[in-house]
Amino acid sequence: MQQVLSQTHNDVKVHSNEARMIHGNFTGKAIVSLDQFSTEDFRLLFLLANEMKRIAVNKEPSDILAGQIVSLLFFEPSSRTFGSFAAAVKRLGGQTLDIQNPETVSSVSKGETFEDTIRVFEAYSNAIVLRHKVAGSARLAADTATSIPVINAGDGNNEHPTQTLLDLYTMFEKFGRLNNLTGLFAGDPLNSRTIHSLLRGLSLFANNTVYLLSPEQLRLSREDYLYYTSRGLRILEITSENDIPTDCDFWYWTRIQRERFATIEEYNDVVKDKFVVTPELLDTYARKDMILMDPLPRVGTIDPAVDADERAVYLRSQIRNGLYTRMALLALLLGKA
Ligand code: NCD
Repeated sequence: MQQVLSQTHNDVKVHSNEARMIHGNFTGKAIVSLDQFSTEDFRLLFLLANEMKRIAVNKEPSDILAGQIVSLLFFEPSSRTFGSFAAAVKRLGGQTLDIQNPETVSSVSKGETFEDTIRVFEAYSNAIVLRHKVAGSARLAADTATSIPVINAGDGNNEHPTQTLLDLYTMFEKFGRLNNLTGLFAGDPLNSRTIHSLLRGLSLFANNTVYLLSPEQLRLSREDYLYYTSRGLRILEITSENDIPTDCDFWYWTRIQRERFATIEEYNDVVKDKFVVTPELLDTYARKDMILMDPLPRVGTIDPAVDADERAVYLRSQIRNGLYTRMALLALLLGKA
């Protein structure tokens, strides 16, 4: 299976996504990669997310997903993505079938194939939200369950498109634009799927520049670097905090992805060089009106002393926007919206 999934992963990158593009029509589509979105698709989704925010904040009853069941099939641990998808479905009047750790609680433990598991949940539900450790698994699931939307909630070190929806929405709320932005990404550009999808998103808009701060070993793969830069994104790779520019609109901090390393020794070797946001680092390099983001979990990324700083949005708007944007996405894929 690993091999089949990796081949699919290559397909994701190499071949055009044209057939899978959203082009303003979300209904029934699988959401596997951020590359399926156009700037206009973001605009549509953000407008609806504003409405969803009102529904969620005012606790208004909604029947947009009444009578619909969404399977949450999480082969990897999750707090925010699982919780916000579950809350999103329920806030819109739908129901969820919650399967966390299928390896232990489902027939996967008896040796059932990935494709069979996906077909079973296709039969029971109106959509599948999938998280899996293998890159390309979401594409394989979408190609298997063709009668309902499959949503990629993170596939290995590949992509995490719905995280990018909330990240871009958070930036748009703050700056009123997604072009002409300068950002700093720190941590694990090689393995972080949230970085991969967000760089795809930023590359759709003109004149964006990103600095990637990481240990040498965790730089983007050359393939990814060339992919994003060929789409017009300016990327500068740095390895020292001293090189952080002082004009960033946002910082996006990520943990080093321990589970993606082959051995604990390899992980320990890079983790000793990791970067941590402290009040002093912010004082030295950050603008007064920037925002500090983190997809979380925060594992050695940000000193808790920073939490009180109003620029720290990771436990504030960034978290809440995950609910609103996922409500909007589900409504567009499944609802009458
Ligand atoms: C991220 C993920 O799972 O990719 N978490 C999330 O969904 N917000 C980030 C991470 O695990 O580091």
